[in-house]
Amino acid sequence: MPLETTTTTTTVCVTGASGFIGSWIVMRLLERGYIVRATFRDPGNLKKVKPLLELAKADTNLTLWKADMNIAGSYDEAVQGCEGVFHMATPMDFESDDPENEVIKPTIDGMLSIMRSCAKAKTVKKVIFTNSAGTVDVEEHQKPVYDETNWSDLEFIYSKKMTGWMYFVSKILAEKAAMEAAKQSNINFISIIPPVVVGPFFMPTFPPSLITSLSPITGNEAHYSIIKQGQFVHVDDLCEAHIFLFEHPKAEGRYICSSHDATIYDIANLIREKWPEYSIPTEFEGIDKNIPVVSFSSKKLEGMGFEFKYTLEEMFIGAIDSCREKGLLPFSTQIHSNGENKESSLNSQKKHTTNDNQENDLHSITKKKHVEAGENGKCD
Ligand SMILES: NC(=O)c1ccc[n+]([C@@H]2O[C@H](COP(=O)([O-])OP(=O)(O)OC[C@H]3O[C@@H](n4cnc5c(N)ncnc54)[C@H](OP(=O)(O)O)[C@@H]3O)[C@@H](O)[C@H]2O)c1
Repeated sequence: MPLETTTTTTTVCVTGASGFIGSWIVMRLLERGYIVRATFRDPGNLKKVKPLLELAKADTNLTLWKADMNIAGSYDEAVQGCEGVFHMATPMDFESDDPENEVIKPTIDGMLSIMRSCAKAKTVKKVIFTNSAGTVDVEEHQKPVYDETNWSDLEFIYSKKMTGWMYFVSKILAEKAAMEAAKQSNINFISIIPPVVVGPFFMPTFPPSLITSLSPITGNEAHYSIIKQGQFVHVDDLCEAHIFLFEHPKAEGRYICSSHDATIYDIANLIREKWPEYSIPTEFEGIDKNIPVVSFSSKKLEGMGFEFKYTLEEMFIGAIDSCREKGLLPFSTQIHSNGENKESSLNSQKKHTTNDNQENDLHSITKKKHVEAGENGKCD
């Protein structure tokens, strides 16, 4: 068991700490003085853990733990002694050949295994589950506004088996199972429901949700329908909301955490105006230019006193700047007067960078179908 050097402040566990959102919340928790236990399937993977070890206060307040949602009891040690658990880990393989065993079962079993670890520990007061908009609005006909009382239609999901269906099912069933388990063990279980999360990142890999939000730049058409009538939240606002609800004595139940509603045309216009160096479509096939927004209401969260800080533009500035800094996105997709596309010059530069993750170049991001659109366009 890893040694911890500080025991004076609140100890929490973050699962999926190597991920886009997990790594950001670890940073924010450390800044506040929390003692953070970060779980990874492979804490020996230096590429994944190094950015976290370099965070301020990591040397005193951060420990790394090995845990896997596929292994019962895997979280026992990491959770023992914690007051809170932020459960962010999730398998997101939408192209799985065996969705039942590779996505649905590990998500539900992993959630229940964590709830059992928390009950055994007897120290855990709150479990904050990072859920998904896919638990709320996947249904045949979109409503103009969604709130926490809405649940996606499981029958519709199973009958359509749209891309990502296994992810929606996994999150719905995991949330329901955890709510039951929490009642039995007297743990306050809170489910936070974010839409598409956008913003800066410091992990080396391309965040799955940026494949979607930056699709008007990369031309990844498979993702257009996800943001056809999209909702968005800045990664920092989302992480602050997690901590806010963890610290709020009256927090309970489900909370939508969404700050902006926008259609794909709004997103395309925003990117085109701010970054004219990108060639952004003016038309999206099959999507009416006057399509209405579908809104996710964060009234419950805001009613508790939470305030969103970031604009939609700031989300994209953060995301694009991070991608550019890491060589994950070209600086331009416009054709030069000499006929050369800047993308190809970026790709040739990249051969000399340290980024060895093949999944992260523009070519694979445009081709990749990791997060494809479901029939109603939801995958967040
Ligand atoms: N990003 C969004 O737009 C968005 C929107 C709505 C909800 N969410 C939710 O937010 C959470 C974090 O998402 P993210 O965008 O940060 O995704 P991410 O970058 O892909 O991170 C997910 C993490 O889950 C871990 N993981 C995967 N399978 C696992 C398993 N079997 N056992 C243990 N850990 C496993 C991975 O960690 P290792 O590989 O290191 O083990 C990975 O770091 C997820 O629960 C997701 O459903 C995200």
